[in-house]
Amino acid sequence: MSSNNIEVIVVKNAQEGGKKAAELVANELEKGLKVIGLPTGGTPETMYAELRDSDLDFSDVVAINLDEYIGLGADHPQSYAYFMNEQLFNHKSFKETHVPAGLADEEEETARYNKVIEDNPIDLQILGIGTNAHLGFNEPGSDFDGLTRKVDLVESTIESNKIYFDSVDDVPRTAYSMGLGSIMGAKKVLLLAYGENKADAIANAINGDITEDVPASILQKHDDVVFIIDEAAASKL
Ligand code: GLP
Repeated sequence: MSSNNIEVIVVKNAQEGGKKAAELVANELEKGLKVIGLPTGGTPETMYAELRDSDLDFSDVVAINLDEYIGLGADHPQSYAYFMNEQLFNHKSFKETHVPAGLADEEEETARYNKVIEDNPIDLQILGIGTNAHLGFNEPGSDFDGLTRKVDLVESTIESNKIYFDSVDDVPRTAYSMGLGSIMGAKKVLLLAYGENKADAIANAINGDITEDVPASILQKHDDVVFIIDEAAASKL
């Protein structure tokens, strides 16, 4: 479907997307996957449901999450650590699971997390995408070579994510995010997107200029990328 290296699989809806994504994970496990990079957000929930219900064995796999809100601990229901426990880690046992610690000291935590990634090269990085084409919390303008660091969330991200909080004022303004450099270091990348509100981001990521203004456009430079997207998200391709 696209002229570059990105393989695009169009599915009917998020349910079918979750199934396809879980199949891809199963395939990679069979091929010896040892380290998996994981996303949060509404998008991967159907994939996590499939993985929970599967008989796949992750006991030899290290999981490394993309990001976490600064200021939220793992017991906070809106933290990404809490989300991952609910969605996957309480149901499947992993060799190790890593999520940035939202309450930890900035300097120590970013150094610790970058060491985790360095020690565990990622075989498969799974991603969602923001409406502004952000990956993890790498907002437009993020350095293509970036590593894990503290980031400021932009207004549109705070607006999109406020549905998960009581009020917009409760949405943290900063986060720790794995950088685009680390995401690009993964051997294979799988990006998931559903819904019309992702159509512009998907079209810009696949067919637009490769620019730091569109973080996901960096994926055009990776040699093994699969997008699983629904018809609505594919509507502007
Ligand atoms: C957040 C996360 C991203 C995620 C994006 C889209 O900002 N940090 O990793 O891809 O939201 O979320 P959703 O899947 O809910 O649309």
